[in-house]
Order: sequence, then structure tokens, then C-alpha cells
Amino acid sequence: MKIPSFLDAKKRNKCKTSIIRNYIVDNKYINIGLNKKYFIRTYGCQMNERDSETISGILEQMGYEKVYNYMDADLVLLNTCAIRENAHNKVFGMLGRLKNLKESKDIVIGFCGCMAQEKDVVEEIINNKKFVDFVIGTHNINELPRIISECGDDRIIEVLSNSDYIIEDMPSKRESKYKAFVNISYGCDNFCTYCIVPYTRGKEKSRLKEDIINEVKELVNKGYKEVTLLGQNVNSYGKDLGYSFTELLREVSDTGIERLKFVTSNPWDFKLEIIDLMVNRKNIVPYIHLPVQSGSNSILKSMGRKYTREQYIELVNNIRNRVKGCSITTDIIVGFPNESDEDFKFTLDLVNKCKFDGAYTFIYSPRFGTPASLIEDCVSFVEKEERLSDLNKLINKYSLESNEKLLDKVVSVLIDNKSDKDNMYVGYTDTNKLINVKCDYNCIGKILDVKVTCAKSWSLYGEVL
Ligand code: SAH
Ligand code: SF4
Ligand code: F3S
Repeated sequence: MKIPSFLDAKKRNKCKTSIIRNYIVDNKYINIGLNKKYFIRTYGCQMNERDSETISGILEQMGYEKVYNYMDADLVLLNTCAIRENAHNKVFGMLGRLKNLKESKDIVIGFCGCMAQEKDVVEEIINNKKFVDFVIGTHNINELPRIISECGDDRIIEVLSNSDYIIEDMPSKRESKYKAFVNISYGCDNFCTYCIVPYTRGKEKSRLKEDIINEVKELVNKGYKEVTLLGQNVNSYGKDLGYSFTELLREVSDTGIERLKFVTSNPWDFKLEIIDLMVNRKNIVPYIHLPVQSGSNSILKSMGRKYTREQYIELVNNIRNRVKGCSITTDIIVGFPNESDEDFKFTLDLVNKCKFDGAYTFIYSPRFGTPASLIEDCVSFVEKEERLSDLNKLINKYSLESNEKLLDKVVSVLIDNKSDKDNMYVGYTDTNKLINVKCDYNCIGKILDVKVTCAKSWSLYGEVL
């Protein structure tokens, strides 16, 4: 077994970010995957989805062919997420199934993504999951060809706690021909007290503006209709380079991409210039994901979020007043350590004031190594579950209200695919709402005007005009 030193995730290197260009899979690895099939399962957020596209690109350069059922694969990769306990559980459940498969078939099992950056998870794999052939971290997926070629009788564990480089020009097999994710920054420097991401993804590093613009231009040339700019905190993009997110957004908008989105916006450094741009640029869609996490000032403070409920509500009002029809979604955590009934009521009150178009809601999950996990908590899990259920009812009410406002209106929809179930096309409005569309010709990949005929809490139905 080969286990290089597993560095302490909290030790950050302050070096300047360097850029490695023109990545290619070395010739000696390009035949390793010939006549072999790979399966990759992705857990977690869009960062991981994008990484899986890169990993797929690398594997296909090595000759592997993609399959969508792990039972058919010679190489199975799990691209994991560490954000909450249940993300862990799903991955360990899948590992159990793979262990069984490996008893009947000769397969290589690889483990990557954010859980691979957690020391306790890696130790568990080393000691108790001996059927896992290799573990590779989030900072070194470029090493995948070598690691796959070296793992045989030896297991390989290669994880770096952080990296000071960005690799450009990695191969990529994008999932969609119409919608693309484009990374603008990697990592996160915020250290919200509950969150594991700064440890699993390392320090924040921005890609050069030119590299992002070139990637988007290339996508436009290939016929892509929508680009989503990705970063854990898009608003702090460029602070390590001396430019602003506003400048980047303006230039990406100038490429002529039909739809432009960005996630995730952080309330504390969301610049009002972004609202101006959204008002003036038709291709920046009226949709903002603006995680609030809690409506209580004291909880926001212990979470290390740098805004107050008042500032947040003011920002939401500002956006709604200026960007016509803007859809605003959020993330909310209930049951942060010692969240009182009163704190929770402040969250409900904030939801009543902001009337979100949608929200992802979670019960707080302690993450090993984060400051919040050390706080002694007096709130029972049952109480947390009740709060989550109350919150979800309120969220659903506003989400339905926001959808019902669209009844009989014409919305712009990018059609993604066709559902097998009811023979309808499925797409997203420019406000990021899921919509099922009746259409009598193949409209996949088109942006169409659709009249909304039915509204539910989490989806719309409509007909092409
Ligand atoms: N960078 C984004 C969030 C990425 S994580 C931001 O700052 O908004 C996605 C969401 O997972 C977070 O917004 C938060 O609501 C949730 N989350 C993160 N850590 C969590 C934890 N320990 N327990 C429960 N939910 C958590
Ligand atoms: Fe986590 Fe906060 Fe960074 Fe978002 S901004 S990834 S919640 S530490
Ligand atoms: Fe994303 Fe999960 Fe990692 S949310 S950044 S895949 S911990």
C-alpha cells in the first residue's frame, strides 16, 4: 500500500496560486482503459458534478467507455460529498453494494471527492474497507491516470490537504450539450463554523478572467445556451487577482451566451453593482441563490456569517424591487447548536418577509473538525425535526404562491430532456423553475416561449406557444 503523508487540513499554505496549463494524459496511460468500462457516481454539489465531468474526460482519454450501471463497469468511482452525515451514509451504503459486486467480479474501486479529504474517512477505508483500491483527493485528480495504472495488488491513497495550483485545459466530458458549469473559483476561505468545505476544498483560488472568458466563448461556439458560473462564494471572485466579480460577469455576459447564471452568492459581499448588471443585461437571468442559513442574528453570529437578518432582508427587497420577476432561493439550516424557539421563530419570520421562491432546508449536522461541532448542544433531535417540518410547510406555501403567480403567463424555457413517464419535455425557466412542457416536436436544447397551465409547489406545467 502506498500512503503519502496526509497533511493537516487546517494548515494553509499562503503561497500565490500558480497555473498549470495544457494538461494531457501521458501517452503511457492512454491505452489502459481500452475495452474497459467505467461508472462514476456523483454525490453533492455542482463542484462535484463539474469534477466528475473532468474525471470522465480523463478516463475517456485513457480509453475507458462510460456506462450508467455500476454492475457493467470494470472501474467504479465514487465522487463523494462530506457536507452532512446523510451524505456520508449514502456513500457507505454504496460501498457495501460494491463490496458484494467485487466478490463476484474483478473490478477496480476508486474513492474521490470531499470525503476523501477527511482523515477519519480515509482511516476507515484503510482499516475496514480493504476492497477499495484507491483514494484520491480533490486537489490531485490530474494524477488519476498514474494512480489507476499503479494500483494492482497495492492499494493507493493519495490525498493533499490543499493546493496552490489551478490546472487549466483538463479534458472534460460535459453531461449536457446545452447547459454548462464553468468554475470561476475553487475552495473557500470563509470558514462558516458548521461547514466542512474549506477543509475539503482548500483555500479560495480564482481562475484568471481570460481563461473563464475563453471557456465560455468556446461553449458559445459549440452551441451551448446556458452557462452557470460556479464558486462557493462567487462574490469574492478575483480578490486574489485584483479584479471583481462584477467585471467578470460583465465580460462573460459580453460573450453572447444566451443565459448566464451564477452560484453561490454570499449575502455579505453581494455588491449592488450586480443588481445593476442584472437589470441592464438581458442574458443574465433573473435568478439568485442567496443562502441565509438562519433568520436569527445570534445564530448567524455563531455560524460566522457576516451579516444580520436586517441586512439580508434589505438586500432581498432591493433585488426584488429592481430585478423584475427575480426568483430568489435560499439554504436554511435548522437546529444549529442551542438554537432556541425564539431563534427559530426569527427564521420563520424572515421566510415570511422574504417569500422565497424555493429553499433547500437542512437539519444541522455536526462535522468533525469544524468549530460548531465542539459546541455542546441542548436541543433534541426530535425538536429539530419538528422545526424542519414547520419550516418546510412555510417554504412550500411560498414556493406554490410564487409558481401560481406564473399561471397563464408566458415564460422562457430551456428544454433539457424528455420524461419517459408522461411523454412531456422537461426544462427550466429563466427563473430556474422546473417545468414540464407539452410540445409536439423534438424541442430538446431549444429556448422556447411556454404558456404556464398548472402550478405546483416544486414544478410547473405548460404548453409551447
Ligand atoms: N458556499 C455555499 C454553501 C455550500 S454548502 C454558501 O455559503 O452558501 C450548501 C449548503 O449546505 C449550505 O448553504 C448549508 O445550508 C448546508 N450545510 C453546510 N454545512 C452544513 C452542516 N454542517 N449541516 C447542515 N447543513 C449544512
Ligand atoms: Fe461553507 Fe460558508 Fe464557505 Fe459556503 S461560504 S462553502 S457555507 S464555509
Ligand atoms: Fe460540494 Fe459536498 Fe464537497 S456540497 S464542495 S461536494 S462537501
